[in-house]
Amino acid sequence: GANHEPIDPVRFIGNRSSGKMGYAIAYEALLRGATVTVITGPAEVQPPVQSTVIQVQTAQEMHDAVMERLPTADVIIGAAAVSDYRVDNPATQKQKRNGSGMHLDLTENPDIIAAVGAGKKPSQLVVGFAAETNDLIANAQSKLKKKNLDMIVANTVGTENSGFGAETTDARFLLADGSIEEHPIMKKSELAEKLMTRIVDLLVSKAD
Ligand code: C5P
Repeated sequence: GANHEPIDPVRFIGNRSSGKMGYAIAYEALLRGATVTVITGPAEVQPPVQSTVIQVQTAQEMHDAVMERLPTADVIIGAAAVSDYRVDNPATQKQKRNGSGMHLDLTENPDIIAAVGAGKKPSQLVVGFAAETNDLIANAQSKLKKKNLDMIVANTVGTENSGFGAETTDARFLLADGSIEEHPIMKKSELAEKLMTRIVDLLVSKAD
């Protein structure tokens, strides 16, 4: 899902992520017998009831919740649309309009999946997402490398059949060995199935 970065007690900076992809992955992992923790920002859908749900608002809260649970995780999947910036010193009282413009200073948030990738144990598998409007493969490949991920799911955003809020997604899997697995446009639940199958393959080859 999204993050909400407060401006004042009633306003925030957010994004259009629905949480559908992340929750579909959580559901699929549960079906395969995994113990699942969903660390989630605000979303339009309900996480699967059999998962442990940690509800957060901001990127910093999400970062802290991920770091706390990281040591016991075998697979970490970063499907959230993490807010890249937060508002410096959010106001403690509701801001009134004063007849002129308003200026917000923003600070960069931590990159959660990059921190996970940087500190991962050899037994841990880290999967990220890359939602791009342009240069999809090149941008996703560079994120895969920079964030030290085992796999990145690259999809286009801003079209009717893919991206925030859509029921379907237009995704491919980019692996750390340079290979690319293409998929037709499909439902997010179907992509979650394909993703989990690929993750199980990777876990098996890691264990060999
Ligand atoms: O760099 P970009 O935001 O496109 O990278 C997408 C991937 O990085 C996703 O897996 C997303 O969940 C993760 N991410 C993160 N923390 C951020 C920004 C992105 O974990 N601050």
